[in-house]
Amino acid sequence: MAASRDDCMALDAHDPLAAHRAAFALPDGVVYLDGNSLGALPAATPARVAAVIEDEWGRGLIGSWNAAGWLEAPRRVGGKIARLIGARDDEVICADSTSVNLFKVLAAALRLQRAAAPGRDVILSERGNFPTDLYIAQAVAASSGGQARLVTVGADDLAAQLTERTAVLLLTHVNYRDGRMHDMAALTRRAHEAGALVIWDLAHSAGAVPVDLNAAEADFAVGCGYKYLNGGPGAPAFVYVARRHLQAMAEDPFAQPLAGWLGHRAPFAFAPEYEPARGIDRFGAGTPSIVALAALEAGVDTVLAAGIGALRAKSLRLTQVFIDLVEAQCVRLGLRLLTPREPERRGSQVSFAHAQAWPVMQALIARGVVGDFRAGEDGAPGILRFGFAPLYVRYADAWDAAQALREVLASRAWDDPRYFEPRAVT
Ligand SMILES: Cc1ncc(COP(=O)(O)O)c(C=O)c1O
Repeated sequence: MAASRDDCMALDAHDPLAAHRAAFALPDGVVYLDGNSLGALPAATPARVAAVIEDEWGRGLIGSWNAAGWLEAPRRVGGKIARLIGARDDEVICADSTSVNLFKVLAAALRLQRAAAPGRDVILSERGNFPTDLYIAQAVAASSGGQARLVTVGADDLAAQLTERTAVLLLTHVNYRDGRMHDMAALTRRAHEAGALVIWDLAHSAGAVPVDLNAAEADFAVGCGYKYLNGGPGAPAFVYVARRHLQAMAEDPFAQPLAGWLGHRAPFAFAPEYEPARGIDRFGAGTPSIVALAALEAGVDTVLAAGIGALRAKSLRLTQVFIDLVEAQCVRLGLRLLTPREPERRGSQVSFAHAQAWPVMQALIARGVVGDFRAGEDGAPGILRFGFAPLYVRYADAWDAAQALREVLASRAWDDPRYFEPRAVT
């Protein structure tokens, strides 16, 4: 265990990723542990975005759709993300938000199942899944005319609940509350054995942990660009569809229900009837946000430059250092570790429950240690979340964050009316 700040600085001195921190524009005096919510600003992004705005838009005007590669941007950036999630570049496209992409793939998966196995009507998910996933599943079920329903169970009961009624297993790979990671390959295999299709939400995985969708034979996946991919607030999301499913749905125009013109085979033919593009392009819908895609591409480039294997190795060490330090110093102060201790079962965040998690986090933020707060499941104590984006978080940051946490708890600095004030975003 790191016994001193010097030990942590020694780890930083030997960190093969240390130089990558310079690729980010981080404010001085801040320990930023919220890259699992909003990734930091890459130093290259302002100039890349300015070039798109001033040169491509300002001077190139409409011609930039052709001359500056705007039309191909969703596929180009999708192809880069594909390299991080074990997909082929013709299986991933950037578009819309994670929620919207989830609607598309869930509807597509149910439609494939309805054709192949009409008796299957259950969308199986985890009770503690991210709410947007559950809401979208509820909406898809409600609009299915009684042909689908959502069933949620605890994480440990998922495998047992896969039955001949299960059409789709819908899961988030790394849980947003406690950072627990599912075994993607094992659950996908188990779902396939039961005849179900699988959709993975990679919001907390892409750019943080190695993902191999093709090796797991995953069917569909979605994920967002603003967390570990550093694409900026509200960055475009991505969607993955396995090649075999793209082929299977080729003759079904409305397999993907949001049949927008840019998913059409020939958008500029302006034909009145919808004919889908052959491949993953049909999972686009309307005009993409080119400025946002430029920022996302700059963010994805920061991850590709480091390599996901090196990022995972550092992430596991960082999270271990932090867990050890906090547990050694703060457990008697009312904290309880929620994140799995086993490295292979956790993503890149560490979560602790505390009865006063909200004011504790506000007091930490006031000291320059930025994590965030999430309400506990079913009335359980609130959660302090600490995201460790290994591209720019240092071992010394883990030390400083643990010390600040100990100080806030031991001195009860959190017990101050200003730290109890509610905020819209937590
Ligand atoms: C697992 C998961 N899915 C989806 C989302 C959000 O999706 P959207 O991009 O539609 O806002 C989040 C946001 O934190 C998330 O954690």
